[in-house]
Amino acid sequence: MPTIHQKNFETFIDSVAIAQKVNELGTVIAKDYKGKDLLCIAILNGSYMFAADLSRAINLPLELTFIKYNSYRSMESSGVVEKFIGLTSEAKGRHVLLIEDIIDTGLTMTEILNDIQQLQPASVEVVTLLLKPSALQEDLDIKYIGFEIENRFVVGYGLDFDGYGRNLKDICVLQQ
Ligand code: IMP
Repeated sequence: MPTIHQKNFETFIDSVAIAQKVNELGTVIAKDYKGKDLLCIAILNGSYMFAADLSRAINLPLELTFIKYNSYRSMESSGVVEKFIGLTSEAKGRHVLLIEDIIDTGLTMTEILNDIQQLQPASVEVVTLLLKPSALQEDLDIKYIGFEIENRFVVGYGLDFDGYGRNLKDICVLQQ
């Protein structure tokens, strides 16, 4: 059982269940985007591991790039979303798929969607590995969802607690 910053975490979704879900998502996405010019934009830092696995599960030619936003401080959302940096690919007229690790309040994703829409893509959809429906404050249309989870703090598989825990293979939850 991992301990991070003196807090105990326990396994919540193990690596086998994650891999299975990622493959399922990849299969559906590949079917939906067949024949389309797919630009995957993964949101750093948390989604790096999910993006690496999901992109390999999408059996199509695609471009994968990364952007960075920051809204989360320690264990709760700061409610302040900074602007993204790092989009070097042309999004205009292309089918954009945003890859996110977790959607909590939805503030970050709302902001990102607003910014991406301004770039005039042909379409924009969102894939998130995790969604906390009871924490959601925004009216978001999320096409691909891995797991809906309760409103508890999780780490692992890219998700961090103050920088630590990203390298855990399982998604772990703070013990109650
Ligand atoms: P939102 O803007 O509240 O939806 O927060 C989205 C961002 O907060 C995600 O991209 C994560 O980086 C971070 N986040 C939300 N919930 C958790 C969690 O339980 N563990 C770790 N990071 C989280």
